Amino acid sequence: MSADRDSGPYVVAVVGSPRANGNTSFLVDVTLAELERRGARCEKIMLGKCHVLPCQGHEDCVQRATCARDDDMPAILDKAYAAQGLILATPVYYEDVSALMKIFIDRNYFKYEHESLLEPQALGLIAIAAETGLEETIETLKRFVALSSAGSVPTFTLAGLAGSAGEAAGDHDLVTKARRMALQMAAKLS
Ligand SMILES: Cc1cc2nc3c(=O)[nH]c(=O)nc-3n(C[C@H](O)[C@H](O)[C@H](O)COP(=O)(O)O)c2cc1C
Repeated sequence: MSADRDSGPYVVAVVGSPRANGNTSFLVDVTLAELERRGARCEKIMLGKCHVLPCQGHEDCVQRATCARDDDMPAILDKAYAAQGLILATPVYYEDVSALMKIFIDRNYFKYEHESLLEPQALGLIAIAAETGLEETIETLKRFVALSSAGSVPTFTLAGLAGSAGEAAGDHDLVTKARRMALQMAAKLS
């Protein structure tokens, strides 16, 4: 992987937690810092800080040149599609992805209907729960990517337990796993 800050691989992290200083966001920061150390150009997108609206379900995406929704999501999706490394990170809400992450997934329908496919060289999936639902949440993210990409994408996962905001920062094991995921992704990026 290149060490040139201007020409290194582009990594985008889409974060579905509304907590800017929450556990998911913290572990994404750890992952991106490690990737940056290895020359990646990283961008973190906190969906909770963006203007993003749910899909309206018109089912006429194909007839439209642009999504009917006028918000930040088309630009966010374009960044995800341009990324060589893509990270989808979500807290577990009711044993599944958060509403913010589900908005990202549903709004991808415009890309899907226009036959655009995600083609990252490496995919990182992060799910954080207080107790339950990690497996289901990672499965939801995997199903989304399977429906949105052409073939199998090298995929690395970080699923961990942390409850109150800031808990992950004190969990050495989770931090180590986040760094390891970054190294695994970096090895796939050119
Ligand atoms: C609406 C809501 C639903 C939640 N559902 C679950 C759940 O099903 N299982 C679980 O273990 N934790 C659940 N949690 C706890 C969060 O997953 C946990 O606090 C996590 O650390 C939040 O991540 P964040 O700090 O990145 O926002 C829920 C929290 C909220 C606010």
